Amino acid sequence: MTRLRTPITDLLGIDYPILQAGMSWASSCSALPLAVSNAGGLGVVAAGPMRLPDLARTLEEMAAGTTRPWAVNLPLYRAGADDVIDLLLQHRPPVLIASQGGPRRYLDRFHQAGTRCLHVVAGVSHALKAAAAGVDALVVVGAEAGGHPPPGMVTTQVLVRAVVTAVPDVPVIASGGVADGAGLAAMLSLGAGAAQFGTRFLASTEATVHPAYQAAVLAAGVGDTRTVGHGLGVIRALANDFTARMQDLETSGAEEELRRKTFQASSLKDAALGGDVHSGKVEAGQSAGLVTEVLPAAEIVARIVAEYSETVTRLPHLH
Ligand SMILES: Cc1cc2nc3c(=O)[nH]c(=O)nc-3n(C[C@H](O)[C@H](O)[C@H](O)COP(=O)(O)O)c2cc1C
Repeated sequence: MTRLRTPITDLLGIDYPILQAGMSWASSCSALPLAVSNAGGLGVVAAGPMRLPDLARTLEEMAAGTTRPWAVNLPLYRAGADDVIDLLLQHRPPVLIASQGGPRRYLDRFHQAGTRCLHVVAGVSHALKAAAAGVDALVVVGAEAGGHPPPGMVTTQVLVRAVVTAVPDVPVIASGGVADGAGLAAMLSLGAGAAQFGTRFLASTEATVHPAYQAAVLAAGVGDTRTVGHGLGVIRALANDFTARMQDLETSGAEEELRRKTFQASSLKDAALGGDVHSGKVEAGQSAGLVTEVLPAAEIVARIVAEYSETVTRLPHLH
């Protein structure tokens, strides 16, 4: 079996610098993360929306289903986050990817449990703080990303470069807008040690999303996402009735209470599990426009590796 070594693959013990992004509902299960980890990448269970018994069962399935490293993503703002932390400490996942909060709340306890701790950051100052706190690696999310792009909307290309320059001693994973091996090569060229793929794995056979959601992702072009919920926890989602209503409210200067009510009345769950692609939050990145087919996750990993190899072979050299 081939390998592609970087500081991130060495840190995490994986074969390829390919992370499947934690995605609420889509990867709140074991099937997708297991397929990715068993294919040599890092599969990530999204604990954000999971009830504790479901998460406990999923953690057992992960431990039983692979000898390879895997991760849990925990958005620290979720209700009952401290109970989730206690549960995770009992199960000792190989890797934790925390988002939406500060690392000091969990870092020492997970390090004592032998868990590698990665922290999601949305800007350079945030990255400097997380590095000073002692995280093992940073996940840098740029504006193209599906789900929660950074409020400052700096692109992945610029933000990754800024963070690797500002924090040279902590390895970086680039997230947002990366859908294939050429994108991976671009991120490694910028100094990242790996790329994280979200939208690309939404279109996998193992992702727990409704077929209508996957069809909407495949049909989307690169310009078909919108960012809405500015000031409320901005999201990037496919354009639909919900995003149009939010954009109307935002451009007409509607009061925060009405914007918040409208934002909260729509959910990712309704879209991901119920297939409501018109009024739900169909969270996806700009890279939806680069994704054209639903494939098994292991095939996606293999294709990204092959595309990476073709890309670097094709790059021009100085004579
Ligand atoms: C449907 C969906 C759900 C997401 N849920 C989460 C989540 O629960 N926690 C998190 O930290 N990021 C979440 N994200 C963001 C991803 O982890 C990742 O940063 C993003 O998908 C990368 O951009 P890409 O989609 O262009 O690959 C989500 C993204 C999507 C598309």
